[in-house]
Amino acid sequence: MADYKITLLKGDGIGPEIVNQAVKVLDKTGEKFGFSIEYDEALLGGCAIDATGVPLPDETVEKCKASDSVILGAVGGPKWDTLPGNLRPEAGLLGIRGALGLFANLRPSVIFGPLKSASPIKDEIIGGNLDIMIVRELTGGIYFGERGRKEVGGHPAAWDTEMYTVPEIERIAKVAFDLAMKRNKKLTNVDKANVLESSRLWRETVIKVSKEYPEVELNHLYVDNCAMQLVRNPGQFDVIVTSNIFGDILSDEASMIAGSIGMLASASLSDGKLGLYEPIHGSAPDIAGLGIANPLATILSVAMMLRYSLDQPKAAQAIETAVAKVLETYRTPDIFEEGMKKVGCEEMGDLVCKEL
Ligand code: IPM
Ligand code: MG
Repeated sequence: MADYKITLLKGDGIGPEIVNQAVKVLDKTGEKFGFSIEYDEALLGGCAIDATGVPLPDETVEKCKASDSVILGAVGGPKWDTLPGNLRPEAGLLGIRGALGLFANLRPSVIFGPLKSASPIKDEIIGGNLDIMIVRELTGGIYFGERGRKEVGGHPAAWDTEMYTVPEIERIAKVAFDLAMKRNKKLTNVDKANVLESSRLWRETVIKVSKEYPEVELNHLYVDNCAMQLVRNPGQFDVIVTSNIFGDILSDEASMIAGSIGMLASASLSDGKLGLYEPIHGSAPDIAGLGIANPLATILSVAMMLRYSLDQPKAAQAIETAVAKVLETYRTPDIFEEGMKKVGCEEMGDLVCKEL
């Protein structure tokens, strides 16, 4: 019997190509560190819509629940863009997060040394290094709240609701404080407490939880100010904790500061070991099948999986070190620079394996 059971949700667009490279690297890591993996595949997103009519078939949820962790490629594409909201590939993504109870989304923004010049922010502003961890609440708030259409004053109107319960806020705050304890003990809470009642409860609750973490320095920023501070002085941040919608927006911004969205990994965690690991970028339908996609974000997501779900921190570190080493010489087109060797998706996967 294998040590770990992993479900692969390859998804759409470049999803299958990049997941295949991540699997190759995971297998190689297993050989080196003495563990074995058994894989199962399931459908999510557009491919699930084509095969079954819905973006998240029940079978997919069952398979994921029966595994130690899940690796996701990417979902979506123009083919499914005109479907009604609840049948779009994105609904499958939100659905799997809800079904697996993945309430904590960890999105690190780091610059790999050799890629420093890829950041659009000036060197002197980035200063030394960038290492921000955004902790986004992932199964509550306005993305999961009630919504609908109605008529107001004779005009068609639409509404969504932002609501958080204290336990929802407490558990995400604890994840963020725990991470801060393992890092530089600095946590920034981001909300819009000057306007939103839900943000006021959010902030009160974060402050309450902070009493259990006297060593962590906590500060608060309104989301608009945080968006500005991220480009003005990104070095001030260690861990950021925020709601579903604010985290969605700020993590895209932070990923750009790091230079290439093709490099950034993410982890979505439940209160057990089960997690879902995926690159931050999308399905890039324009380059799907061309063999030029950058698999490194997915490969780095595998490193996060080894660290947060499978308890293999040394194997995780080995992957991260191998990626940094390969980047000194080789680049996929999205991160290409003069003087480097240009490689495709599969070659990049092979190079990381070789470096391991
Ligand atoms: C993300 C994406 C998703 C989200 C979309 C595709 C539903 O933007 O993972 O950040 O908003 O959560
Ligand atoms: Mg997003």
